Amino acid sequence: MRNTTPDPSSLLLCPPPSRQEAAMAARVGLMTRLPLCAQGRGRFLDALHRHLSSPGTAILKREEPPLGSAEPGLQEETKNKTFSEVQKERREQAQRSILISCPKKVPEKKLLKHLCQHGEITNHFFFESFGIHAVIEFSKKESIASLQDATFIPRGETEFPIPFKSRFFHLNLKNPSNQTSDGMLVQCSNQSSPLNADLIQTLCNAESVEGQINTLMRMLQITEENTRLRYLTCSLIEDIAAAYFPSCTIKPFGSSVNSFGKLGCDLDMFLDLDDIGKNHATKTAGPFLMEYQVKNVSSERWATQKILAVIGECLDNFGPGCVSVQKILHARCPLVRFSHQASGFQCDLTANNRIAMKSSELLYIYGSLDSRVRALVFSVRSWARQHALTSSIPGAWLTNFSLTIMVIFFLQKRSPPVLPSLDYLKNLADAKDKCIIEGNDCTFVSNLDRIKPSENTETLDILLCQFFEYFGNFSFNKNSINIRKGKEQNKPDSSPIYIQNPFEPSLNVSRNVNESQLERFVHLARESAWILQEGKGQSSKSSNHPWGLAALLQPSASNKSKAKKPGRGPTGEAVRKLLESIKTDSTKLPPATGEKRTISTQS
Ligand code: GTP
Ligand code: MG
Repeated sequence: MRNTTPDPSSLLLCPPPSRQEAAMAARVGLMTRLPLCAQGRGRFLDALHRHLSSPGTAILKREEPPLGSAEPGLQEETKNKTFSEVQKERREQAQRSILISCPKKVPEKKLLKHLCQHGEITNHFFFESFGIHAVIEFSKKESIASLQDATFIPRGETEFPIPFKSRFFHLNLKNPSNQTSDGMLVQCSNQSSPLNADLIQTLCNAESVEGQINTLMRMLQITEENTRLRYLTCSLIEDIAAAYFPSCTIKPFGSSVNSFGKLGCDLDMFLDLDDIGKNHATKTAGPFLMEYQVKNVSSERWATQKILAVIGECLDNFGPGCVSVQKILHARCPLVRFSHQASGFQCDLTANNRIAMKSSELLYIYGSLDSRVRALVFSVRSWARQHALTSSIPGAWLTNFSLTIMVIFFLQKRSPPVLPSLDYLKNLADAKDKCIIEGNDCTFVSNLDRIKPSENTETLDILLCQFFEYFGNFSFNKNSINIRKGKEQNKPDSSPIYIQNPFEPSLNVSRNVNESQLERFVHLARESAWILQEGKGQSSKSSNHPWGLAALLQPSASNKSKAKKPGRGPTGEAVRKLLESIKTDSTKLPPATGEKRTISTQS
């Protein structure tokens, strides 16, 4: 009979050995952006877990869960949390968590029992990234200190470890041969987005375009475990930065937290040093004013560059799991880019970037107001990526951020509007929402409950098709996109596309986009409106071919589109006329009609 009593002493914890780090570093040049291996859905969503909202769940606050949406159980508990409350709670959760690289066959129960010696464990999950890893969440931070006391620094024969005691450990089995029979392949939580072919296949089995849109979002969105891992990674990097700046915080921003994140998206981090100076006022009592003796530099940018340079060095030299560290200090927004190998995230660390943090909060609010917003943004982002309208490499193309603003703008323009203007959100703000950054007014309401829900009842089928039609016909040469007003404005310069930065009105978010990229966007938008309109009413039951959203995501469609010149084939004058006719006809059609309209593309 197998002995089921775990022997805690048979497990050894130590920081990951430097040899392993070196081997990983050698591979990472080629492999850092490879998706993590997927082995199915995580299984540890316990009661505590449900108390925490995540980017993927925020939308469930105000509405019934959309068809195919994830974790409906989260709806109730996440009700009134503001963006900063979610951040605070997640951060605190991450500070109670550790990361362990494990052997392939982990004796899960023994491991948990072993770790329980240091305190109660409230949550754990496994995932795969260059081997099996575990995230363990204790109920108290003190448990981690106790575990660190019982953990030793490995001694290699030919390599010397840098003795940095982090919260990233390596688990060794004392007697691997005795224990492999106890060890089982643990169930790993999925950290990567599905293959495009699988996605298309699943979409083809949906009942309607609306079902496809919701399914796409459910399949692509960041999971609860992935959110935890993102906050934990920030927290681990914060430990390193805190060696120099003890009160600093490292906060995730961008798509990791703005509710539009897709599995596999990068991890944008913001090094916040402002808290260090926060107790300034309380120290001014009495006849003296005590100040820290500090070094001064001639500009804030230079200070940022110096700080990031030092932290970049630290990450490179001492950061367990941090590889391929690049200091990109002369960019408009200086950053340190690196790969956090254990979590599999490509990380961009910036400092002095408060406006981007505020933009993330704004997008989070828009994403949380109406369930159609996230669904539409996921579809449009996936469509754009599939057709190479966006890219992970910087260039003259649209960014996901610009596309998201375009979707928000489109939803502000519906009648009645699906989303309010930024000025409306500003008018609802109270005193504690007031926020001025570098002279820019970034004030808007943080309490979602104060925003009136939309009266618009249009379905996602209609909205997606109308999005393509709207931007297929938009006067980019004359008008700019302005979500602050919720209205187009005269373009202040001759950039091909002008999307006003919501918080820095003199800046164009899409200033990098050139004429030919805009042409491709318009061309593909018209074509996609046409495909959706032509296939109305079609579903998997009536066709063997990809239909609806699946047809828009087909690689072949994109290749064909690239080959065609604008103005030829179904996307030229014929489509312009077609779109005109759709516009006229759409007022006559009942919403979400299931009828199939046969449209001739002959001019
Ligand atoms: P992904 O492509 O999924 O990473 O989307 P993202 O929203 O995270 O975009 P990205 O990583 O490029 O940028 C991170 C965040 O920086 C965005 O969410 C915005 O808040 C901000 N940001 C990016 N580009 C711009 C820009 O051109 N202007 C302004 N004001 N903010 C930007
Ligand atoms: Mg990002």
